[in-house]
Amino acid sequence: MTVIHDVTPLQQNHLPEETVDRERESRLLTENLESRNLHIHGPRGTGKTHLVKKALEEVEARTCYVSCLKHDTQYKALKRIVSQLTREEVESGHHTSELQRRVEEQLEVMDAVIVLDELDFLLLNNEEDLLYFLSRLENGPQITVITANVEKLGERLEPRTYSSLQPRRIQFEPYTGEQVYKILAKRAKKSLAERSVHRNAVTYIASKTQNTELALTWLRVAARNAEETVTEELVEEVEEEAFEVYTECELEHLSRHHKYLYQAVEELSREKGPVINAGDIYQRYRSVAEERGEETLSDRRISDFLKQLEQLNLVKAEYHYGGRKGKTREVSIESP
Ligand SMILES: Nc1ncnc2c1ncn2[C@@H]1O[C@H](COP(=O)(O)OP(=O)(O)OP(=O)(O)O)[C@@H](O)[C@H]1O
Ligand SMILES: [Mg+2]
Repeated sequence: MTVIHDVTPLQQNHLPEETVDRERESRLLTENLESRNLHIHGPRGTGKTHLVKKALEEVEARTCYVSCLKHDTQYKALKRIVSQLTREEVESGHHTSELQRRVEEQLEVMDAVIVLDELDFLLLNNEEDLLYFLSRLENGPQITVITANVEKLGERLEPRTYSSLQPRRIQFEPYTGEQVYKILAKRAKKSLAERSVHRNAVTYIASKTQNTELALTWLRVAARNAEETVTEELVEEVEEEAFEVYTECELEHLSRHHKYLYQAVEELSREKGPVINAGDIYQRYRSVAEERGEETLSDRRISDFLKQLEQLNLVKAEYHYGGRKGKTREVSIESP
């Protein structure tokens, strides 16, 4: 028997009809999205993507939504923007300047709101030229950028980019336990059989994490494992599995080498204690990749990938400067 009668509301990427709380943020978004540039910042699972997507539904101008996790260079993001402005697929092989020209052309005949979600990943690749280009256009779009890590864009962008963007900043604070509870309870009601979830089970999840994405994943995993009811005991039992599923979903859009790298960090932290040297990680990554008969990537590439895992808040890194070894990096797994 299954307690799930409609899995959709619990699935990743499902955008529910109603939004729980966050009235102030919703209002700020609807009031400003079409008239000025915005920077939304907040930790993972605070509803940034959810609220912006909801607000986009009300926008009259053409809307472009770009995840910079998937489109992490100026070129890829431009391609995505052109295809959303023209509502046509864009073939490969264009030059960046050609794509820029097409964006400019489109914007001459229509108003547009462009959202760059997960901007952290574009910045990690030093591709802020895209922001400079978009913000300097004469019939420019309104631009909203979303970050989970970069708190102050002014400290991160070149002055010329920041001064032409001048975004209004909207901060998303973490949800309280009660808010996480409400969000979970609403979804459970839509997705699961009546009276199949114990109140304590939901309270338990809400007391353990403020990240609603993780919380929803956790409830989904528990429901999948439930015979008749989702109990607090069951929720506790599936905690580790829920973390694993959450991590897999986060890694989904990255390469398989990112997965080998994550595995390397995980194995080492289990074997050697929580904090590991970057050098050991590169070595272990190579054995993980070789075991699978794969070519290995250079330490430099892997070091960049490690920074991406850090942006996803899957690993935590501490940098030490000076001393005998020069610059070193100590890494640990960050439980979501
Ligand atoms: N206020 C809310 N009401 C209903 N559902 C919500 C609310 N806030 C978040 N959620 C749900 O929680 C999940 C995570 O939210 P969302 O993806 O918007 O977080 P995020 O801040 O963008 O996180 P990340 O930084 O990891 O991208 C989604 O399924 C979303 O629908
Ligand atoms: Mg998001």
